[in-house]
Amino acid sequence: MVALGSAPRRTTQREMSMQTNRWNVLFTLALATGPLGLVACNEPAGSPGGGGAAGGSNLAELLKARNLSEADAVAALKTYTPTGKRDEYVMFASGGHGGNLIVIGVPSMRILKYVGVFTPEPWQGYGFDDGSKSVLKGGQRNGKDITWGDMHHPALSETAGDYDGQYIFVNDKASPRVAVVSLKDFTTVQIVTSNILQSEHGSTFVTPNTDYVIEGSQYPAPLGGKYADIDKYNDEYRGAGVFWKFDRQKGRLDRDKSFAIEFPPYMQDLADAGKLASDGWAFFNSINTERATGGNMEGKPPLESGASQSDMDYLHVVNWKKAEAVFAAGKAEQIGDMKVIRLQTAIDEGILYFVPEPKSPHGVDVTPDGKEIVVGGKLDTHTTVFSFEKIKALIDQKKFQGKDSYGVPILAFQDSIRGQCEIGLGPLHTQFDGQGNAYTSVFIESKVAKWSLKDLKVIEKISTHYNIGHLSAAEGDTVSPDGKYLVAMNKWAIDRFNDVGPLLPQNFQLIDLTSQKLQLLYDMPLPLGEPHYAQMIKADKLKPIDVYKPIGTDPLTEKVDPDATVGGKEKIERRQDGVHVFMTAVRSHFTPDIVRVKEGDTVHFHITNVEQAKDATHGFAIGSYNINLSLEPGEHANVTFVADKPGVYPLYCTEFCSALHLEMAGYFLVEPKDGGAAAPAGKPAAAPAAKPAVKAAPKAK
Ligand code: CUA
Repeated sequence: MVALGSAPRRTTQREMSMQTNRWNVLFTLALATGPLGLVACNEPAGSPGGGGAAGGSNLAELLKARNLSEADAVAALKTYTPTGKRDEYVMFASGGHGGNLIVIGVPSMRILKYVGVFTPEPWQGYGFDDGSKSVLKGGQRNGKDITWGDMHHPALSETAGDYDGQYIFVNDKASPRVAVVSLKDFTTVQIVTSNILQSEHGSTFVTPNTDYVIEGSQYPAPLGGKYADIDKYNDEYRGAGVFWKFDRQKGRLDRDKSFAIEFPPYMQDLADAGKLASDGWAFFNSINTERATGGNMEGKPPLESGASQSDMDYLHVVNWKKAEAVFAAGKAEQIGDMKVIRLQTAIDEGILYFVPEPKSPHGVDVTPDGKEIVVGGKLDTHTTVFSFEKIKALIDQKKFQGKDSYGVPILAFQDSIRGQCEIGLGPLHTQFDGQGNAYTSVFIESKVAKWSLKDLKVIEKISTHYNIGHLSAAEGDTVSPDGKYLVAMNKWAIDRFNDVGPLLPQNFQLIDLTSQKLQLLYDMPLPLGEPHYAQMIKADKLKPIDVYKPIGTDPLTEKVDPDATVGGKEKIERRQDGVHVFMTAVRSHFTPDIVRVKEGDTVHFHITNVEQAKDATHGFAIGSYNINLSLEPGEHANVTFVADKPGVYPLYCTEFCSALHLEMAGYFLVEPKDGGAAAPAGKPAAAPAAKPAVKAAPKAK
């Protein structure tokens, strides 16, 4: 619910009477619409929207002038967040093709940040300094830079199955990559990839204490990046589940302690880690157990119909605790750059089991108590609730109904489920509240279905606009969901916003879960890639830093950079490996502000923002050399490049930092090799460059 405490301030008599009017209207609204749990607003709303003019100073007039209903006003009051007030939740949404992470305040739905992850992000200087370039390099595939991402599923780090606010992991479906973002400073600190997979989807999902970050394959291919014609699909193509070991102390994924489990060439889909009752296990959905390969110009059915023949696919039930032990015992084989527990080993050691699941399913979501697994049927109208206890008992008794073509034991469907809930057309993903309710996105109907886990009965449905994919409830996939808010992540917007050409934004719709009936509160256009999934964390669990301390800190090592520059010790030095510029930034100058090098020099800028004031960020740009750094207070960054084009290059600060921001500038002078024509008479480019005169730093503004 919305906390609407008014900031203390003087109230004039006119305002008093306005407020009295508003109180009356609100009171009437409250009576008309049921329990509200909100009390007063501080300022009259005034943004355009709805019909009519934005005018009037009392609520009743405004409603009339803007053609708003009482329900509209209630919705507005539930999301409106006055200036200076904070949101109760923070949602992390994948940035789809942008390869970045989107941070959104809930319930205001204000975008707080885009975090560069798989692609350079110029504002943050991400992908421009040496440190972040090395992070992005970790995501190269076959030595190639990948300049986009298909980010799908963010996963907040967990402790005992609850979000702990320390890290968030994200995946790239297209070029299988997993990234680690530190929530200390909302910065990407690592990207890993393995050639074991050629595409992935069931990623990222964390085990309850973030021991592992799970990455499940999607489209099968020969493991390790090898070649085999598609005719060899059944024999040579495979899927896999990668278990990336997370070292929380270091805040990094540890490749040497990571392993993969080989799967048959079905298309593994979403995944989820068991928790509490099912801790130690993981669940992967699959589609296309038909093993259709497409080939619609080769006399075969197109993939979509080939893959939809059977009524059942296989829920992959994986004992990752056992896999961890098998890996530790040295029973994994090196394939490509990853240690792999081969399929036969997984079968022999009791790591992998299948349970039939209807039909080309999509989401697999473990209930908060870990006792059940909810699978969204996609081409089946039900959600199926699998009982982990039943599954475990069948496994323990070795009671199997048969084996698949690869020898994986199959449990009987009816013996593995508690029941099914008739949801509607196209059930996909499920989230939970703290009251025993589940919320499932229903793609074809464009609805969210609220249903009771106890009775397996739909309680209520609410329309979304349109074609909902994932949905995210407050802490909705933890061991203790909050309920309260749910965001429907709609793929299509169609008629919801002002038209902006044929490519439309997606539509995030905020839904109140506390009102008597589900209430749609807000439409938020998401105009950057196609976000897939989001997780919503209680804002007070996040404890990001304000500034980098001590001054000169490298965000990646969290230590003072060996090349950090101290105020008064700025210098330019020519060394064996090129020209080193030790520079400081402070409002409103760089020191040194003139840098002379020679054509062909390798130049190393070592720049420290020596400020400690919150929000006192400086940029550092050299146009035409494709350099833009973001130096947060206390941050140190290095950038190395070859000055291969002679000329005069202004350098300047790209963050509006002070009244003299425009004057926070200087020159990067690259003298031509011949030294002649272009060089000023009598001033050959002396190397090393003369030590700059270091002026006393003017007072910060
Ligand atoms: Cu520093 Cu603008």
